[in-house]
Amino acid sequence: MDKSKRKVVIAGNWKMNMTPAQTEAFIKELAPLVKGKDDSVTVLCVPFVDIATAVKAAEGTNIHIGAQNVHFAEKGAYTGEVSADMLKAVGAEYVIVGHSERRQYFGETNDTVNARLKAGLAAGFKMILCVGETLDEREKNITFETVSLQTKVALKDVSKEEMANVIIAYEPVWAIGTGKTATSEQAEEVCKAIRDVLAGIYDKATAEATTIQYGGSMNTKNAKELLSMKDIDGGLIGGASLKTADFSELVSDAQ
Ligand code: PGA
Repeated sequence: MDKSKRKVVIAGNWKMNMTPAQTEAFIKELAPLVKGKDDSVTVLCVPFVDIATAVKAAEGTNIHIGAQNVHFAEKGAYTGEVSADMLKAVGAEYVIVGHSERRQYFGETNDTVNARLKAGLAAGFKMILCVGETLDEREKNITFETVSLQTKVALKDVSKEEMANVIIAYEPVWAIGTGKTATSEQAEEVCKAIRDVLAGIYDKATAEATTIQYGGSMNTKNAKELLSMKDIDGGLIGGASLKTADFSELVSDAQ
């Protein structure tokens, strides 16, 4: 696949699935299946309690481990939250922020996503920033406006240099976990629009260098076509990342 300017990243988002024991078994099974498939970067974003186990199990493999969120404060009275230092200490390398489930169910706003993104970047993580419109927003014809606003606010005060550690995941909310995938044209159109927004905030070179993933019911049937699109540089994968056979096939599709 010719995405020569950019890193193609295939990232699993396990959401609230898997115990540490299941995590260890999964990575042991996955490692030989993705061995040598290095045209793309393979990442698993696992629940907080699985990170240490995952990091250990992935040692010596080409699998990278990430978290699914990070708090913006260094420490303090934030019951239920986890800081960047804590994630560093257990060996995470990537962090997702702004996932639509966080926005929908846990009250995250563009501003909190911006704060979390900046905290993660300051700590040296590679960040996966999720943006995407709801069905209502798509039907009202405000997809580009929505995604552009999410992108701009999330990246407020993020420098051009820091963009080297930012991946953007375009995830239409109506396609997440629903089995309804955006068509490759729909996905490409928005990923391209996000790249134009980046060119506006930063410059063309930064926009061209940024990895933009598609996410939302990406699976072994549709991945090849989605990944062949010019502005789609990988996937953020929920359901299909929970089975080693499916996930490794997606990694193969990205070679
Ligand atoms: P899905 O989830 O692949 O199960 O639709 C994607 C995501 O939410 O990141």
